[in-house]
Amino acid sequence: MTIPAANNTAAPRYLDLLRHALCRDHFPDARYDMSSGSLQLMPFDPALRAEGRDWPLEAVTMVGTKRLENLQTCCCTALEEEIPGDFVETGVWRGGCGILMRAVLTTTGDETRKVWLFDSFAGLPKPDVKKTWLVLSHLYPRVSPAGFVVIDDYALPTCKAAVDNFRAKHSIHSPITTIDWSGIFWRK
Ligand SMILES: C[S@@+](CC[C@H](N)C(=O)[O-])C[C@H]1O[C@@H](n2cnc3c(N)ncnc32)[C@H](O)[C@@H]1O
Repeated sequence: MTIPAANNTAAPRYLDLLRHALCRDHFPDARYDMSSGSLQLMPFDPALRAEGRDWPLEAVTMVGTKRLENLQTCCCTALEEEIPGDFVETGVWRGGCGILMRAVLTTTGDETRKVWLFDSFAGLPKPDVKKTWLVLSHLYPRVSPAGFVVIDDYALPTCKAAVDNFRAKHSIHSPITTIDWSGIFWRK
C-alpha cells in the first residue's frame, strides 16, 4: 500500500526514532574511557553523545546526535532538490550512518539510488593526511553540483590539513558550515 506523501507523517517520526536508536542517545548504553587506554567502561554522558565525542559500547555510530541530524537533512535536501547521484560513506565503523542514508531513501520511495560504504574493517589506523586526500581526490570529481560533502574528522589536524589543502588546490570556495566540534560540510 502506498501512503500519500502529504499524509505520511510516519516517515519523519520513523527517521527520528531510527536516529536515536542508532546513536543510543535516547536508549543509553555506556562508553569506553578513551583517556586511560584501558577500555574501561564509563557511564553514558548525553552531552558527549550529542556531539559524537565518546566511543559508544553499543551504539552503531560514533558521530553523535548532531551529525546524524545533519546527515539526514543533507540527504533529504539532495532528494528534494533532485540533485542526482548515489550516497557514499568512507569509514563506516558499525554502519549507523549508512543505515540512516538507506532509511532516508526507503522512506522517500527512492528506488534508484545506491548507498556505497567503504571500509577496511581493520580498526583505526594512525591519522595521516594521505587517506583523506585520497578519498577526496577519487570521489570529489564524482559529486554532483550542489551535492553535499560531509567531513566528520575536521578536528583532527591531519584531516583538516588535507581538506584545507584540497580545497585550496582545487579553488573550492563554497562556504564551510560547522555541524559540531568536529563535523563540517559544504555544498559543491
Ligand atoms: C571513526 S570510524 C568511522 C565512524 C563512522 N563514520 C560512524 O558513523 O560511526 C573510522 C572507520 O574508518 C575505517 N578506516 C580507517 N582508515 C581506513 C582506510 N585507510 N581504508 C579503509 N577504511 C579505513 C576504520 O576501519 C573505521 O571503521
